[in-house]
Amino acid sequence: MSGNSGTAIINLDIEGPVISRHLYGHFAEHLGRCVYGGFWVGEDSPIPNEGGIRLDVVEALRALNIPNLRWPGGCFADEYHWKDGIGPREGRPRMVNTHWGDVEENNHFGTHEFLALCELLGAEPYINGNVGSGTVQEMSEWVEYLTRDGDSPMVRLRKSHGRDEPWRVRFWGLGNEAWGCGGNMRVEHYADLARQYATYCRDHGDNTLYRIAAGASDDDYAWTETLMRQISCFGCEATPKNFFQGLSVHYYTLAGPWEAKGSATDFDTESYYRTMAAAARMDRIIQGHSTVMDAYDPGRRVGLIVDEWGTWFDVEPGTNPGFLFQQNTLRDALVASLHFDIFHRHAERLAMANLAQTVNVLQAVLLTDGDQLVRTPTYHVFEMNKGHQDATLLDVHLRGTGLQRTVGDAELTTLSASASVKDGTVLISLTNLDADQPAEVTLDLRGGTLADPTARILTADHLQAHNTAAETPVTVQPFTALTPHPHGFALTLPPHSFLTLTGRLG
Ligand code: AHR
Repeated sequence: MSGNSGTAIINLDIEGPVISRHLYGHFAEHLGRCVYGGFWVGEDSPIPNEGGIRLDVVEALRALNIPNLRWPGGCFADEYHWKDGIGPREGRPRMVNTHWGDVEENNHFGTHEFLALCELLGAEPYINGNVGSGTVQEMSEWVEYLTRDGDSPMVRLRKSHGRDEPWRVRFWGLGNEAWGCGGNMRVEHYADLARQYATYCRDHGDNTLYRIAAGASDDDYAWTETLMRQISCFGCEATPKNFFQGLSVHYYTLAGPWEAKGSATDFDTESYYRTMAAAARMDRIIQGHSTVMDAYDPGRRVGLIVDEWGTWFDVEPGTNPGFLFQQNTLRDALVASLHFDIFHRHAERLAMANLAQTVNVLQAVLLTDGDQLVRTPTYHVFEMNKGHQDATLLDVHLRGTGLQRTVGDAELTTLSASASVKDGTVLISLTNLDADQPAEVTLDLRGGTLADPTARILTADHLQAHNTAAETPVTVQPFTALTPHPHGFALTLPPHSFLTLTGRLG
């Protein structure tokens, strides 16, 4: 029997906000092998594809119900000129991707290819426009090209490239990381630019844009404060319309400082706990930005958008440092499950979150090598948790002993949980972050019962376990060791494990 034990009180009759499916969003940048090799192989590739888009990747992502995909960056978005990515591919201008590897970009994957990918995935596009090195006219025309019906210069251009109907594009980013790679701007300057760009990103016909301002890094609450003060205008008579509907924040989980991030696979227990403490910080960061936003928008009409999150480790030895290619272990999976519990708790303010990035970059859910496709441990967390998408949050309280750990100057709670209900089905997610000790967990269900419980678990012998084309030690397994308890169930959660339990609400 371990010294770690906890009770999760789950009030099945106390409902919170809806957990938007967009909290399970993704991010695909022209970076390393994310787009080229990851999503796009070209029509002539021997790898099975539809119009150049690889089908194994589409199939794997469809199984996650991925709700949206952000593109083309990231830092790349602020040097991307969309007109270079339309028309016959061989004639498209080339450019240098100065942010990522200094490699040549042939623009073969452009607007039409991205929208075709979204259609195959059944995901909503989230396009990030170029504020850093673009123009207002360029962004305005991109919106017109994509979303306008009838007849206009950009509509004629679109039709000349074979697409008659406009696409529906809702999510629109007004630049990226304006404080850094997006132009190294002062927030006051960016706030004015965001107002200007937002003005000319029109709603054409019944396509209504959800404009997302480029927000803060980490805990830079001053950035959020200035944007909310200068851009939002609720109840303001002179400008009755708000300039943006979403405000982003980026926060990455590191095991140490930027200069010493450490290996994705070769790490010790101390580094593991540092990673988990860094991941848990996401809670305070979201809370901090939400509190600032509440002062200007108490009705919570502006959504907080965590459009970049995930682990960032050293690149795999021998790979291009600018390609950000890292392996993905059970540690990454637990970072993801912890993030989702945090995201669920903030569902009222949080409108979207996007893992960085979907394929072959940073905390990817998929890795490709030629025609091989690997589902990473993080992939399985997205799959096990997909029932939370658009479900109603349930009230969860945790208490226990042996669940607190001091990591540097932070306190880490090693048991994490969240629960939701949708269409009469309850989904409970439980994570034991302890590296070595199991946790004896009681699920104290109140205000209802759970019929036909089924549980699944993701764990492995060791934290460093990861999947490759040759072997897949981290896969989802059935979990049958549920003991009925007077108020619910009892179970032993193995060390470093993630478990989901579903059942019918009675
Ligand atoms: O995801 C990699 C990079 O991280 C993105 O391009 C940028 O926005 C962030 O700094």
